[in-house]
Amino acid sequence: MVPPPVPTRLTVNGQEHRLELDPRVSVLDALRDRLGVTSVKKGCDHGQCGACTVIADGRRILSCLALAVSYDGAEVTTAEGLGTVEDLGEVQEAFVERDALQCGYCTPGQICSAEGMLTEAREGMPSHVTSDVSAQGPVRLTAEEIRERMSGNLCRCGAYDHILAAITDVARARGLV
Ligand code: FES
Repeated sequence: MVPPPVPTRLTVNGQEHRLELDPRVSVLDALRDRLGVTSVKKGCDHGQCGACTVIADGRRILSCLALAVSYDGAEVTTAEGLGTVEDLGEVQEAFVERDALQCGYCTPGQICSAEGMLTEAREGMPSHVTSDVSAQGPVRLTAEEIRERMSGNLCRCGAYDHILAAITDVARARGLV
């Protein structure tokens, strides 16, 4: 039996949308199929590749694993919300400067994930490689920290060294290196 649709409100890149959604629909499918936000990519659809990463209420999430109805009322930011072609966001600009992409399929997810991890580091959230998890204040983003924190975002083209360079540039500019 098909479950009845559930009214769901999502604010995407500052624009509010009121949807009637099957409760099984993911944030990813709501964004792509209902709202036409196509920077968000369906890679594995199993939470393993990170291509679908978006920022929801300030935290990066894997949108393929998130049910849209459970994000009712959330503020969602995708790569489109982080800058425009004429006015790139800081991370986007760094990716261009450092040539941190090849085919580009993983790039919107990489950029959302980078924004999310920079916020997490600034707020002092430790990772698996943070040596002192009891330390207060922002986490210093070494190459090891950045690699670990971005390890959920796969790049089949292998642009990892350039992605690392781009994120390091932004981390340095934000006083996190
Ligand atoms: Fe092609 Fe990352 S740039 S998958």
